[in-house]
Amino acid sequence: MLSEEEASQSSTSSLSLVSSPSSPALHFIGKKEDIVRAGRVTKLVNGCRDVLVLYHQGQLYAMDRRCYHSGGELQNGDIEEFNGRLCIVCPWHKYKITLAEGEGLYQAVENPTVKPIRTYWCSKGVKQRVHKVTEVGGNIFVTLNDSSKPIESDVYQVEKYRTMPESKTEKKTPMALYSTGHL
Ligand code: FES
Repeated sequence: MLSEEEASQSSTSSLSLVSSPSSPALHFIGKKEDIVRAGRVTKLVNGCRDVLVLYHQGQLYAMDRRCYHSGGELQNGDIEEFNGRLCIVCPWHKYKITLAEGEGLYQAVENPTVKPIRTYWCSKGVKQRVHKVTEVGGNIFVTLNDSSKPIESDVYQVEKYRTMPESKTEKKTPMALYSTGHL
């Protein structure tokens, strides 16, 4: 994975911010070739948003870096498909988050009294704030999703979660023992 410093090294000051009065700001993340090679890049965008940019199967995605459930580090999650939808699987408690929309997915039981148990995929709605990715001349930019509607991942966009070393940040909640991936 490309670190924030490595991404910054390949940037130029003229590319760090592109905006006009009529368009939202584009924040430079890195050169596309570097991001494609790394697969994942994390960056503090605009000094206020800890963002993960992912490259997967020819597409780029951006979302808040910390998982909406308990602040897990999504840059370390696997990407898998569930019910035809690409998700990042949080490495902490295995919650599934769609790459494109930031929806939380879970498996519901059709009828618990009927054996064998049959399950189906459901959405909890948007839980993770996702951001727009734009390519300009081989450079990748992110436009922050500034929707005023609160999204659950917002609560981890605080200094405490930016500065903690990775090994010190996992919360040992009861859910960590089960790794159900459900609510
Ligand atoms: S912190 Fe991501 S699933 Fe718990």
